[in-house]
Amino acid sequence: MCNSPRISKIIIDEDELEVRCEELAAQISKNYEGKRLTVIVVMNGAIFFAVDLLKRISVPVQFDTLSVSSYIGTESSKQVRLRTKLKLKLENENVLVIDDIFDTGSTLGWITEYLNKKNPSSIGTCVLLSKNKSRTTDFIPDYIGFEIANEFVVGYGLDYNELFRNLPHVGVLQF
Ligand code: IMP
Ligand code: MG
Repeated sequence: MCNSPRISKIIIDEDELEVRCEELAAQISKNYEGKRLTVIVVMNGAIFFAVDLLKRISVPVQFDTLSVSSYIGTESSKQVRLRTKLKLKLENENVLVIDDIFDTGSTLGWITEYLNKKNPSSIGTCVLLSKNKSRTTDFIPDYIGFEIANEFVVGYGLDYNELFRNLPHVGVLQF
């Protein structure tokens, strides 16, 4: 396709992603020591990050996936829709939600509120990326992989209209 977007700049390479997953996994394992963890992976964006993170966590983990939609193209529709239901019960569990990116924060805020209604004993949030921008919400994720500039990124799970998720790094698109 001749007019398709290309990566103009790699902002996080494979090695940096691996090192950061190791650091976050060590931190999470320490914070949940002696407990079991119920991880909710927000599909599809968080899939690459979740795999690399979860295989390095040392406490017992059970995980489930949740699918929501909130974005069309590069604009947030600000409306979150649940597309799949959970199979695991969350009552009295220590829940950790893993998402790809904290942009406006509305998706993770909505998901946390939704999961809280299932009476977990705790609920934490972990994102690979957080955009440096002003937000109307006070909510911030408990674990953040990287703070990035306010630009649209793809790769390592993140998409532009479902494409580019398979890139091994995080990069900026040139349109
Ligand atoms: P939020 O609700 O505005 O925080 O956006 C949440 C969702 O929008 C994320 O989970 C991503 O799927 C998508 N998103 C936000 N920013 C980007 C980006 O730069 N690249 C790809 N997807 C993004
Ligand atoms: Mg997306």
